Amino acid sequence: MSEKPLIIAIDGFSSCGKSTLARMLARTLGYTYIDSGAMYRAITLFALRKNLITNGTPDKEAILKELAGITISFGYDQENEHNITRLNGENVEEEIRRPEVSAYVSPVSAIREIREAMVLFQRKLGENGGIVMDGRDIGTVVFPHANLKIFMTADPEIRAQRRYLELSLKGIAVSMDDIRNNIAQRDYMDQNREISPLRKAPDAIILDNSNLNIQEQLDWVLEKMKTIHQENDH
Ligand code: DC
Repeated sequence: MSEKPLIIAIDGFSSCGKSTLARMLARTLGYTYIDSGAMYRAITLFALRKNLITNGTPDKEAILKELAGITISFGYDQENEHNITRLNGENVEEEIRRPEVSAYVSPVSAIREIREAMVLFQRKLGENGGIVMDGRDIGTVVFPHANLKIFMTADPEIRAQRRYLELSLKGIAVSMDDIRNNIAQRDYMDQNREISPLRKAPDAIILDNSNLNIQEQLDWVLEKMKTIHQENDH
């Protein structure tokens, strides 16, 4: 049986556990995992550092002028077993997850020219297959011909509880109400932005992981992959 390296696209709402599943899946299959959201976060961090975001509004022209000089790359920290995002060679993995970046990444990721540049980069990374990429537009725009498209969703209340737990473990104090509001707001923005809004691709399979643990989700995807490999063999 030939097992051609596939392209797996995982899209969905924020705080659904996309990156956890994508990372585990890539590790299990020996594929590359690419977190496309990290690219938009890295550009947002760059813009913040250069004071190119004022009163919550990115200075589009100024950011676009700098775009050619921004290099984003990915690596793996063997010791701590996690992925690393680099901005012009600097490890910014931790910094891009901070609330200041989360607060401004939506307007930055809504800039058409930035999206176009990132989509080209994402396609280049996937040109040889053997990749799991997660984001919002991977199955719809980046890889419309991906071998497997998963659209992840979960009950908003369960997502809020997961986020609360995650932040509490990091020692960040937030109220459940703030988390609920943030999730609702991001869902709205992701689905209603003009360019590449979050949509389920018609051929994507829905994975509602409200009541599934990570192993159950992984088994679910591996089962789907078996079918795809069998179909490819015929
Ligand atoms: O997945 P994340 O929350 O780290 O993504 C950060 C932001 O980037 C989020 O507001 C949506 C945006 N994003 C996007 O527009 N397209 C993608 N493919 C991935 C993320």
